[in-house]
Amino acid sequence: MAATAAESIGAVKVVHALSLEGTFAQAFTKQSRKNLATGAAATRLEAALERTVDLLIAVATALVLWSGAHFVLRGAMTLGDLVVFLAYLRTAFRPAKDFAKYTGRLAKASAAGERVVDLLDRTPDVRDLPGAVPAPPLRGHVRFEGVGFAYDPGHAALEAIDCAVEPGQHVALVGPSGSGKSTFASLILRLYDPTAGRVLIDGRDLREYTLASPRRMRRSRRPPGLPTLTGSSWRSRRATTPSLASAA
Ligand SMILES: Nc1ncnc2c1ncn2[C@@H]1O[C@H](COP(=O)(O)OP(=O)(O)O)[C@@H](O)[C@H]1O
Ligand SMILES: [Mg+2]
Repeated sequence: MAATAAESIGAVKVVHALSLEGTFAQAFTKQSRKNLATGAAATRLEAALERTVDLLIAVATALVLWSGAHFVLRGAMTLGDLVVFLAYLRTAFRPAKDFAKYTGRLAKASAAGERVVDLLDRTPDVRDLPGAVPAPPLRGHVRFEGVGFAYDPGHAALEAIDCAVEPGQHVALVGPSGSGKSTFASLILRLYDPTAGRVLIDGRDLREYTLASPRRMRRSRRPPGLPTLTGSSWRSRRATTPSLASAA
């Protein structure tokens, strides 16, 4: 639900541009109805559990009272004993009542915990390979050797790219939207690993360096489409520009 809302609000320009308001509103309504139904069912189950526990406690108390009354009438027990016993009984039942009240919340918490653990257990595709070394100070010689990349298997975004960029050289990537300019830049930052070929920086495959070390070297170059960090634009510029960070 939150995901649907975040998606449509984040992509609001696309939604307007393609007149998708109706479709998104419908998807949101559907999700919302489903949520409501599940929520109502969960509340109903919780209430049923609490009711059952309350009923059992009432029946047990009635039984104790009934047989206790017999004991008192026969003179085997005083009235005071019975009253005290009933008070103890009520105290003993309180945890059972509380447990029934909190089972719903416990179930929700454990389900949420499972999802968190599931996410933490995933291994990212782009990670440090065994034997990766921190990058030395880089000069910035970039070389693509037969690089191919596909976001989805079978749909290549880049194919057989060979090129070399000298340190200090300025290069303009020109092409229609969707031709792979951003993908090209992402490969230099190793946001993705190429599916074919290799990307070399200063003559070494990017994958031979630890993930963070070449990126730190190129902090001042913002990857395209990088969102502004939460807060002011000053903060986001400071985070991406080392010289500003030390000035602040
Ligand atoms: N995160 C992604 N998941 C799947 N496909 C993507 C993703 N990003 C880009 N693409 C696809 O890869 C191709 C190249 O996209 P991109 O590099 O963003 O092009 P450009 O920056 O030149 O507009 C496009 O067909 C695009 O649909
Ligand atoms: Mg782009």
